[in-house]
Amino acid sequence: MRVLFCVCCLISVNIFAQKTDSVTEKKITTLLSKMTLEEKIGQLSQPVLDEHSKDVENEIAAGKVGSFCSFNKRHYTPSERNRLQKIAIEKSRLGIPIIFTYDVIHGFSTIYPISLGLSASWDLNLAKQVASMAAKEARYYGIDMTFSPMVDVSRDPRWGRISECYGEDVLLNSVFGKATVEGYQGNDLSKHENIGSCVKHFVGYGLSMGGRDKQFTEISKNTLLNTYLPPFKSAVDAGAVSVMTAFNDISGIPASANKFTMTDVLKDQWGFDGFTLSDWDAVLELQNHGIAGNDKEAAEKAINAGLDMEMRSDMYLNLVKSVKEGNVKESVVDEAVRRVLRIKYKLGLFDNPYIDDKKSNKVQLTEENRKLARKAGAESMVLLKNNGVLPLGKKGRLIIDGPFTNSKDMLGWWIGNGDDQNVVTVEEGIRNKTAGKLQIIHGSLSRNYDKTVLICLGESGGNFGESNCITDVTIPKSQIELVKEAKAKGKNVIAVIFNGRPWVLTPIMDYADAILIAWHPGTEAGNAVADVLFGDVNPSGKLTCSFPKMNGQIPIFYSDRISGRPRENKYKNIDANPLFEFGFGLSYTKFEYSNLKMSSNTLKKDGSITVSIDVKNIGKREGKEVVQLYIHDKVASISRPKRELVKFAKPNIKAGETQTITFNLSASDLAFYNIDDQYTLESGAYDLWVGGSSNCELSSKFTLED
Ligand code: GLC
Repeated sequence: MRVLFCVCCLISVNIFAQKTDSVTEKKITTLLSKMTLEEKIGQLSQPVLDEHSKDVENEIAAGKVGSFCSFNKRHYTPSERNRLQKIAIEKSRLGIPIIFTYDVIHGFSTIYPISLGLSASWDLNLAKQVASMAAKEARYYGIDMTFSPMVDVSRDPRWGRISECYGEDVLLNSVFGKATVEGYQGNDLSKHENIGSCVKHFVGYGLSMGGRDKQFTEISKNTLLNTYLPPFKSAVDAGAVSVMTAFNDISGIPASANKFTMTDVLKDQWGFDGFTLSDWDAVLELQNHGIAGNDKEAAEKAINAGLDMEMRSDMYLNLVKSVKEGNVKESVVDEAVRRVLRIKYKLGLFDNPYIDDKKSNKVQLTEENRKLARKAGAESMVLLKNNGVLPLGKKGRLIIDGPFTNSKDMLGWWIGNGDDQNVVTVEEGIRNKTAGKLQIIHGSLSRNYDKTVLICLGESGGNFGESNCITDVTIPKSQIELVKEAKAKGKNVIAVIFNGRPWVLTPIMDYADAILIAWHPGTEAGNAVADVLFGDVNPSGKLTCSFPKMNGQIPIFYSDRISGRPRENKYKNIDANPLFEFGFGLSYTKFEYSNLKMSSNTLKKDGSITVSIDVKNIGKREGKEVVQLYIHDKVASISRPKRELVKFAKPNIKAGETQTITFNLSASDLAFYNIDDQYTLESGAYDLWVGGSSNCELSSKFTLED
């Protein structure tokens, strides 16, 4: 009987699940049949709330707003959101709810490290936790969907938006994108702990020519398939409900009018059933790109290529005419509207369009959230150099100096409801940590007998991010001088750097005794820095983007391809290696790698092999180590990267302990788009390395066989 029961229960759940989908689709079909063409176009419009304050009620009541973009904390409140939603539900003819959206990128009220920093933690569980924390704060504030994660692979620190992605590597952008989508969306989007995820910017934005934001790109189809698309596939497979198209063109065809990427790949091949959304004015800008001669043509090119919703610009208002003229089939509009309505159902907006605005404040910036942000801040920091001056003692005397010692400018870009007044500064963090046992002397007051000086350097959050592209990523001269002066006084110099992108640190390498990359760590900046400086947290971050020796090396990344003459492809004045490579980061302890073993040196195309390595903590304190596994496909139908990260783990290893770390390497980990742009496996010889950075040397070989 029990077996019968289980089987029935299984089937009933299954049918129930299918019924819900078909029920939803039936509701959408019914709703669509009632909608006028104008109302359908209204669902495809996402105006910016701030810019419609005077006539917003009429716009909503007329069914012209499918979604609102951006919120401005000066006047967007949970109750205001409910008021606007009520107009949509009660005043518009069909009562279709609105999706409220915003850039919740690295926190909403409690801000955690910028994405480039968080990725240096190599901790996917942490990424999921902080996304989940942000989702709850944002949803209870009335944000239904966030324009995040940003998974644009970037290898050019001149581009200010490198700060927003998860670094230079395809796998890391893929797995962090997946973890972030899962953290945002949870297992039920209708719950007010979760928000919808709109992954961006689709696609190839990180390759903007010359590191100039929104500049054109030249991307071969194969590079698109093997490097820039996979992180989006990972986010879509994780269930992202929307995809935002990028500003750039893709080898001449703007992303917002690119049928190949939006329809052929995203919708047809990947089966994406959410909606595509343009970036800010990107439909209007098709005219600047020179592929549309007027507003109506821009709208027609975009929607016929698969762009469902338009952000801010109102080109889509021309579609009523376009449909009547036959330039756009009404079925194309219907499909776009269906996708938008589908996500509104998934978000539960039809059944539960309002948020509990009484509860909102209770979930913002809680102690628990601050603790998590503090943990993320410390886990993201990367120790690049340490002559033994770190960790610091909590007693005695410390000179602190530098422009970021008492700065609250630690939140980076996209700070939502975050407030820099809530930021813990470095000095505050040190005082919290040492509780009066440490005498703090400000640099300018220091005496010559003081031994150690802590210099807090970096760049303002307004110096990186969107449109903030620069040709020189060298640490500023004034900051180099600070380090040199301190050294000249015979000090032990500890440099903590709050940067939003890889910097050229070459000028301070001979003067700083320790260098800690802190990124923009968020609300708990000072406490997180103090946790690491005084050793309560053993730094375990590893770079996810290469730090160049000099600007002229840019773009520089570990997974480039081997030239026909490897010995000749460097510069006359410098080698082709970065100052600090991808995957590099120090600890307060040391790890030794040995005993690399493989279960077999042949891997069948339908099989897997295990790769194990012993990692010994040969230092005096416990620490986490990011163990990385790289491969190189030696002979293939196209030239393959000289190294590719395929696996990683982050074990915590006690002092003196040896752990055997085992990876399961399956053939599918080696699949790529070959010379015919077919996603496939090609048999042949592979090199394999395992170690603590992309320069690791412990190696082995294996052959992939049919
Ligand atoms: C911006 C950005 C995009 C952001 C959008 C809405 O221009 O390119 O990342 O999500 O506008 O703020």
